[in-house]
Amino acid sequence: MIADYQNAPILLAGGRVIDPANGRDGVFDLLIANGEIKAIDRNIPAETLADGARVIPADGMVVSPGFIDIHAHLREPGYEYKETIATGAAAAARGGFTTICAMPNTDPAIDNAAVVDYVTSRAATVPARVRVIGCVTKQRAGRELADMEELLTAGVVAFSDDGDPVYDAGLMRLALTYSRDLGVPISNHCEDHELCPCGVMAEGWVSSRLGLAGIPAVAEEAMVARDISLAELTGGRLHLAHLSSAGSVALVRQAKERGIAVTAEVCPHHLLLTDAWALGGKGDPNVAAGPMAYDTYTKVYPPLRTDADVAACVAGLADGTIDCVATDHAPHELVSKECTYHDAAFGISVLETALGTLMSAVHNGNVSLPTMIERLTTGPAGVLGNGLSQYAALTPGTPADLTLFDPNAAWTVDVNQFASMGRNTPLNGVELRGRVAATMVAGRVVFEEPALLNKGDVA
Ligand code: DOR
Repeated sequence: MIADYQNAPILLAGGRVIDPANGRDGVFDLLIANGEIKAIDRNIPAETLADGARVIPADGMVVSPGFIDIHAHLREPGYEYKETIATGAAAAARGGFTTICAMPNTDPAIDNAAVVDYVTSRAATVPARVRVIGCVTKQRAGRELADMEELLTAGVVAFSDDGDPVYDAGLMRLALTYSRDLGVPISNHCEDHELCPCGVMAEGWVSSRLGLAGIPAVAEEAMVARDISLAELTGGRLHLAHLSSAGSVALVRQAKERGIAVTAEVCPHHLLLTDAWALGGKGDPNVAAGPMAYDTYTKVYPPLRTDADVAACVAGLADGTIDCVATDHAPHELVSKECTYHDAAFGISVLETALGTLMSAVHNGNVSLPTMIERLTTGPAGVLGNGLSQYAALTPGTPADLTLFDPNAAWTVDVNQFASMGRNTPLNGVELRGRVAATMVAGRVVFEEPALLNKGDVA
């Protein structure tokens, strides 16, 4: 967590301020001082600023609350060769994320207060706010509930066995019952193993073409349906992690219509990429398993699916069926991916490409820019509902966590520029449109992109 501290005032001049929490969308000047948003006005003259203030011209840019990611794998403790909390936080800063929530599939797993304390202390000086998600079950083994109350007292913001589902319906029922009383959601990774024991990619014509074992969409949907029923039974707080299929979106839509308390997230890659990317043509439909086929960087759980699934996820995000975007940032070391598709680890390094990926849905006209920002700020803050809302709004007097980005800047993904240790993305070499220019946490610039940012004047 970033400590509050004094800093020279910064004036972001003339950007399009999009602040869904306050219903604001227009061109404004925004003044930051002492770590807080000081003022937002049509015109804050630079001459009125204290000596040493920095003016950042923001015309053509969007100024939004800092993005909040409720699903990131920071790998520490135990897998520091994949990522550390520090490198994950640096990747977050490059991606415009000011708050990230660390998933507990570490070694040891985050299933007791001592590990929460360890992660929290390791996060004390990194360039993002880090919140911790605790395990639902001891060692994520799915046999016995973790001490949820102990974890909550230690500061966790949600519970999850992510990477694996809470498989036992009785345990899930109990966990949801406790979540109702503790006021903290259970984020479940929905995957029925029996329906995809050896699956490595979505079941469909591409998996047949490549001769790879498939994962049917019903492996996700069966557990989504089960969990919705359990949420209805218990009145617990169910959050569905990384939804990826049209059927799952339909189930959540029906559940919400019936008034069941359920929230859901979708990842950037499931809003753009399909299983055809495994053919090696970066999604080019004319490429039929060329020399770059079996691209292990496309291997992720849940798997990349069809165009229809992508369209349903985009529509669900646009109409609010899906509450928020979450990255499922899953960094892996080279050898986990430079192997056969069968052996490769599941996961994509997402934090640094998230905005550019998401902006394709905006540029295509399928999601409005204010809606996309809502799904990256108040959306995720609302899912967790425990004190994050102060970071999801540009309200004078609140901490200055914000993201400045150029919605139109085209750039080519180059994993060698990543701050993340995980260079595992199928988007390497792909051109995206929409790029972070600067990220601020508590008024401190934790990332800036010189190519986009005019250094500005000192008043
Ligand atoms: O692809 C994935 N990778 N999906 C998950 O749910 C877990 C994650 C990981 O931890 O690598």
